[in-house]
Amino acid sequence: MTPDPLMTETTPDKRLQRLVNVVQELSLARNLETVTRIVRTAARELTGADGATFVLRDKDKCFYVDEDAISPLWKGSRFPIETCVSGWTMLNRRSVIIPDIYKDDRIPAEAYRPTFVKSLVMVPIRTMNPIGAIGNYWARYHHATEDEAQILQSLADITAVTLENVQIYSELEERVKHRTAELEIANKQLEAFSYSVSHDLRSPLAGIQGLVQVLQEEYGVLLDKDGKELTDLIEQSVKNMAHLIDNLLVFFTTSKKELRSVEVLMKEMAIEYFNLLRKQEPPERSFEFSISNLPHAYVDVALIKQVWLNLLGNAIKYSRKKAKTVIEVGFLETPADIVYFVKDKGSGFEMAQYDKLFSAFQRLHSDQEFEGNGIGLSLVERIIARYKGRVWAEGVPEEGAAFYFSLPRTLV
Ligand SMILES: Nc1ncnc2c1ncn2[C@@H]1O[C@H](COP(=O)(O)OP(=O)(O)O)[C@@H](O)[C@H]1O
Ligand SMILES: [Mg+2]
Repeated sequence: MTPDPLMTETTPDKRLQRLVNVVQELSLARNLETVTRIVRTAARELTGADGATFVLRDKDKCFYVDEDAISPLWKGSRFPIETCVSGWTMLNRRSVIIPDIYKDDRIPAEAYRPTFVKSLVMVPIRTMNPIGAIGNYWARYHHATEDEAQILQSLADITAVTLENVQIYSELEERVKHRTAELEIANKQLEAFSYSVSHDLRSPLAGIQGLVQVLQEEYGVLLDKDGKELTDLIEQSVKNMAHLIDNLLVFFTTSKKELRSVEVLMKEMAIEYFNLLRKQEPPERSFEFSISNLPHAYVDVALIKQVWLNLLGNAIKYSRKKAKTVIEVGFLETPADIVYFVKDKGSGFEMAQYDKLFSAFQRLHSDQEFEGNGIGLSLVERIIARYKGRVWAEGVPEEGAAFYFSLPRTLV
């Protein structure tokens, strides 16, 4: 027996399959618009009706949120809950099947006259305390079956659960947003405080620096060897602290600072800072410095200066125990960006401790071995992150280390 061609569209099996799909789609919906879109199409497809509406209760009004129909129904309109059939469904908490709308006094005939509707079925969304309704409409006389009403009711039940989930989800999202905003404020306050403390520490430190200088210049002759060594140590410590403060000041301003990116001659810059740092080392220290033709970068000069100072400074510092300091600066090109690197043949580090490398105030070497504060690399990472670049490193104990950072090819 060949099936009735009119029935093939909505066999029970197909309906069930469609309903299963709708459940899956709705389970992923995170906002009302998505739920609306899924429900209005599914409602029509499930019964093969000529039109479907998705109605939500808005206090004492029925709000016709959306529809899918052969010609316009009431999308965007609000009707008093007592005067429309979706209102009747919500107030009576049950579905209604109306084969002929002009013979039923629950129907405001004048609202239907401009439409194609002759027959309908309407089901409440959430039967306990309805929050809306789903309607199906036919252009020709159609006495909706119990099956049709039931499958529509199933859709309405899933919709109810989904809407509750959407509500919970958006509340959660709201809460997360609120907490994040609070944290951001707290973070900004903390940074502003740290910035001003660092800033205020500068002037007493400059005082100490000046006094040590006076001590060395005017009382140097009066000091014995131990005395001289002590003043040198004070001077060195003061320098370290000044360096820390400078780094902290940059650290706390990088996230706020507006990027002023220009074309930077990376090779010239690296050479300039290498020479500057080298001058601070004892003249007898032996260096072998090589640099390739680095591509230009589009970055903020003040920020990228900190990257070079810290990476070259580290390469020099952590090579101190070697007879010769060998430093190589180069680059690699990838389709997406340019990778610059600084390699040295110094003390290196254990890859097992890699996790600590870029964390603020974390050090892989002791203060006795090498002085430092552990802020430099975290600053480098923070700066490169502002350009959406990456920073990474490789190290072998006693053989050396290599530090890489990537920058975009063009202005960002
Ligand atoms: N070139 C390098 N060779 C070996 N270890 C390094 C090198 N650069 C950095 N490190 C390790 O990473 C740690 C963090 O570096 P950094 O943030 O610059 O702080 P600092 O140099 O003040 O200790 C250092 O304490 C050191 O253990
Ligand atoms: Mg350092």
